[in-house]
Amino acid sequence: MAEKIVLAYSGGLDTSVAAHWLRVERGYEVHCLTVDLGNLGDVEGARRRGVEAGAVEVDVVDAKNDFLKYFVFPALGANVVYEGRYPLATALGRPLIAKLLVDKARAVGATAVAHGCTGKGNDQVRLDVAVQTLAPDLTIVGTTREHSISRDEAMEYAAKHNISVRQTVASPYSTDENLWGRSVEAGVLENPWNQPPEDVYEWTKPLDQTPAQPTVVEIRFEKGYPVALDGVEMIPVELVTRLSDLGGEHGIGRIDMVENRLVGIKSREIYESPAAVILLEAHRVLEELTLSKQQNRFKSIVSQEYGDLIYNGQWFTAHHRDLAQYVASTQRHVTGDVKMRLWHGTVMTVGRRADRSLYSEALATYNKAGDLFDQSHAQGFIKLHGLQASVQAQRQMLTEPGDLLRLAAPTE
Ligand code: ARG
Repeated sequence: MAEKIVLAYSGGLDTSVAAHWLRVERGYEVHCLTVDLGNLGDVEGARRRGVEAGAVEVDVVDAKNDFLKYFVFPALGANVVYEGRYPLATALGRPLIAKLLVDKARAVGATAVAHGCTGKGNDQVRLDVAVQTLAPDLTIVGTTREHSISRDEAMEYAAKHNISVRQTVASPYSTDENLWGRSVEAGVLENPWNQPPEDVYEWTKPLDQTPAQPTVVEIRFEKGYPVALDGVEMIPVELVTRLSDLGGEHGIGRIDMVENRLVGIKSREIYESPAAVILLEAHRVLEELTLSKQQNRFKSIVSQEYGDLIYNGQWFTAHHRDLAQYVASTQRHVTGDVKMRLWHGTVMTVGRRADRSLYSEALATYNKAGDLFDQSHAQGFIKLHGLQASVQAQRQMLTEPGDLLRLAAPTE
């Protein structure tokens, strides 16, 4: 009897060819698993192609809610972005896909799982590491890594084996999308000097087509998780979809960057992540009100570590569990509302309030009436705060030759 394999299946040309190849060349009984993270177009077409390619089944799993609840929102709580900008949409999806591949493999008694990632990217690392962590006994087949063929060859292969392909013109880009964002690479983008052609973008309007009037949206968070827009409670999928559409309409969330892949390559990436850009900003703003200076500072260090960990495929690790516990603890009082103005590609905070805000108007006010801050304490505080600098300046710096104007350029 043939051994069973579960293939992470998108329904596109490459994974359809992969399904056929796994069956015919590798002798597997192929079970396709299509994970819907908010990225599925033509489900029926995908099913049909999977069957034409000879898979015994095409199982479509709706994982949208789990994706937001267990992957995206915790990452939002940690304010993670990779290298300062990328909200990690693709990277966050991979551990969930890996987990579902393993679950499916267990359910059908498969001995292997397969994916179509190339051998040059991060996604293969994320899937492989997650699978080998969760199920070390499973064999992992990287179909593209092991049997790389060009697009034309794939088309030919499909035609020869009666696998129907979509009638649309093939995209010149490599893309990946889910509810948190869209990632685009390759084609003319490979030259980082090339301005992205407008056809790169699908979710966000160019600035000359965005509305003349701004939209102001109120986002409510509870313990760091977004729960309502403009006073209307929404389930995560609805809330993120709504913000994504709204942000896209205003041209928000385009990111053009050169990033450092785990495998050592610098790559030029275009991202569209309107909901992520808006929510990350709103969440940080609410933390400004609700976290102390030390919490905020330390949390930004954790955020960096957390982002790298997600990017590098280390989701299912004890280190992650430890960081997640810390982040969850910081979110206890991140409850409140942020008012954001969306306009011409920008998202600007115009108001914020929190149930347990640390902001005190009575301390901050410049009005005499109701001022609780005792200004007479300031002088003594500053004396002590500046004590070391003052002593050192007297004993050392002011007695050394050299112009203090050049302090920041000492070798000039
Ligand atoms: N560079 C991004 C990342 O590593 C996006 C990868 C996009 N993946 C794709 N299959 N096109 O997370």
